[in-house]
Amino acid sequence: MEKLVITGGNRLHGTIKISGAKNAAVAIIPAVILSDGVCRLENIPDIEDVNIIDEILCKMGASVRHINENSLEIDPSGIEEPVATYDLVRHMRASCYLMGALLGKYLRADVALPGGCDFGVRPVDQHLKGFGILGAKHIVEDDMIKIKANKLTGNHIYLDVVSVGATVNVMLAAVKAEGRTTIENAAREPHIVDLANFLNSMGADVRGAGTDVIKINGVKTLRGTTYSIIPDQIEAGTYMAAVCSAGGDVVIQNVIPKHLESITAKLREMGVTIEEFDDSVRVVSSGRLKRCNVTTMPHPGFPTDMQPQIAALLSTADGTSIVNEAVWDNRFRYVDELRRMGADISVDGSLAIIRGIERLTGAPVKATDLRAGAAMIVAALGAKGTTQIEDIRHIQRGYENVVGKLSSVGADISLIKTNESMKQA
Ligand code: EPZ
Repeated sequence: MEKLVITGGNRLHGTIKISGAKNAAVAIIPAVILSDGVCRLENIPDIEDVNIIDEILCKMGASVRHINENSLEIDPSGIEEPVATYDLVRHMRASCYLMGALLGKYLRADVALPGGCDFGVRPVDQHLKGFGILGAKHIVEDDMIKIKANKLTGNHIYLDVVSVGATVNVMLAAVKAEGRTTIENAAREPHIVDLANFLNSMGADVRGAGTDVIKINGVKTLRGTTYSIIPDQIEAGTYMAAVCSAGGDVVIQNVIPKHLESITAKLREMGVTIEEFDDSVRVVSSGRLKRCNVTTMPHPGFPTDMQPQIAALLSTADGTSIVNEAVWDNRFRYVDELRRMGADISVDGSLAIIRGIERLTGAPVKATDLRAGAAMIVAALGAKGTTQIEDIRHIQRGYENVVGKLSSVGADISLIKTNESMKQA
């Protein structure tokens, strides 16, 4: 077992380079299935979720060649069966994108139901609604979603909820459908735009990504391409929060400032100085942060994937803050871990009421999910004493080289291996 050990109190100085976007990579890699040629993907983050989706494609028969730690070459022509069984997909929610990619290419997809998630139910009703409107039928049998269509015909799809996953999956199923598909109430996240740009680089005809209406004219074939994915807005936001927690002056390099607008606005409201440049932001923080209220929204609102991290910051802000998690039903499991560090937080439904204290105190805590783990790191960097974070496999799913990146700006952070037997003794 491994855990992170962080001793708070060091102010951070220097530059942190942001990796490619996890949520773009886990959508674009399955999208390669739609191609009739070989695709080369660059700026791919070296994280567990990417390794898992690569392994799934390999086990299905595709060839995935790692050119270096951040570049892949994928040839999907070896895929024989559009089937992804539970043993392949159980580790990762984003494997549900295989449904749209396999259906779009083979008019058939048998994909195991997405694994349970760390916070609440992860439904796919809108995904299936979109497939149905395009002409597919599905059954659920033996924990598998089995979808097939004689043909896919473009149509008008109105998503009942703004869903990143449903928007991605309908795009993947529609790019080779006959005729025009319109997706209304579409998600507008940067990774949706990145997926559309990737599909268009293969010869698709996707317009309007980044707005709430996406129009897709189906094409017959999609060619191989070379594509570099966007930087990760949530990784960037996480390190911005880390600087605010520890204090310091750090340049976050390789970002698209526009993707960070809601995060930057919120941190400025909390008293942080943030300078924006073409592909970087400089974060300068000292002294106690101001309290504020946060409501998570689909992009361009404040991202739910930054909710635990901002709550960790507000735990030591001057005053009482309210965080409203308006996207997920139950994304406050990390609060118990923050309480172990002394945080004064009460949760009532979708609201967390955070009464800021002077300073958190290091303690042994767990990463209950990916962003909760990130919040523990943010909290630990500003806490008094040492924090040990267990279950860091969650963090490794979405953050490339977190120890190296934080150490390089002066954080006292290390990864230690614990001998499980010694622990049990
Ligand atoms: C994506 O999850 C992200 N994951 C999540 O990031 C992120 O929290 C979420 O979008 C919101 O931005 C990936 O991109 C791999 P949704 P997704 O469909 O697609 C409801 C991280 O930390 N809904 O946008 O699963 C759903 O219950 C991860 O990187 C339906 O009701 O999220 C939720 O309340 C965690 N029916 C809301 O919509 C559906 O068919 C938004 O979910 C689909 C979703």
